[in-house]
Amino acid sequence: MTKQKVVERVKRQDSCEGEKPSLAMRSSVLFYSTYTLCVCLGLLCVLFVSCWSSHWGGGFAWDYSALQFNWHPVLMVSGLVVVYGNAAVVYRLPFTWKQNKRTWKLVHAGLMLLGLLLSVLGLCAVFDYHKGANIPDLYSLHSWVGISTVAVFAFQWILGLAAFFFPCSPLWFRSSLKPVHVWLGKSILILSLISCISGITEKLLFTLNGSSVEPYSSLPVQAKFANSLRPPPRGLWLGRLWNLIQQQMAAARNRQGTCSTSAH
Ligand code: HEM
Repeated sequence: MTKQKVVERVKRQDSCEGEKPSLAMRSSVLFYSTYTLCVCLGLLCVLFVSCWSSHWGGGFAWDYSALQFNWHPVLMVSGLVVVYGNAAVVYRLPFTWKQNKRTWKLVHAGLMLLGLLLSVLGLCAVFDYHKGANIPDLYSLHSWVGISTVAVFAFQWILGLAAFFFPCSPLWFRSSLKPVHVWLGKSILILSLISCISGITEKLLFTLNGSSVEPYSSLPVQAKFANSLRPPPRGLWLGRLWNLIQQQMAAARNRQGTCSTSAH
């Protein structure tokens, strides 16, 4: 190898070494800022839905009355959107990558169980309210989408536990289930968002239309407040940010790969 080639190679290696930490740092700062934003928005959603239920809905109780219904949106949003959403991204957090996988499996499964329990409790609230008010069960599109979401979630949790948690589960079962598990996980989140949007609309229509207060179509304060809870704009926005981060991280990994190949 000529002296000039050696100098060029060292220069290239030097520039790559300088690039690696700055790129990794940039993507990790971007990742953690978006993640913090997601957590804050999630908490804000729970706060808003609780304010809606207590200010316009009259508060909370567990006595088969309309006040018991008020737990339904709070528990569903907390369980199926906030806790579920955070449990789903546990493996994406860079600081977990170098730690014991089993610990993070426990955190993932534990958070998912908490989300499932909260949503089952949320369903109990609405079923009890229907029983107390003599309203038939499962008569709307919202109720069928909702009950299917929770059923698929429960199925996914049990299957995930059987496949990935017990060491005795065969390797072929784990590897063939993994893509299905990831796909089903995303579908449950989308179904949860659809359930929330339809639930908010239904509640506003029930509360505002057919009562003496201003109708929904005139967008009174309550309607504006509850509409601001709808997750699609936030979801889309966060989804786009998420894609951006993924692209950044993939680009960083590619560049690091190029650097290491060219250096060898
Ligand atoms: C992931 C979230 C949600 C799921 C899985 C879900 C699921 C369900 C289910 C299964 C029912 C039927 C209960 C029965 O028939 O006795 C129901 C009823 C109801 N939910 Fe939700 N819900 C969710 C979120 C919400 C939200 C955020 C609201 C907003 C207030 C809401 C409002 C209602 C209303 C008004 C009913 C009674 C009318 C009906 O049965 O359709 N839901 N929900």
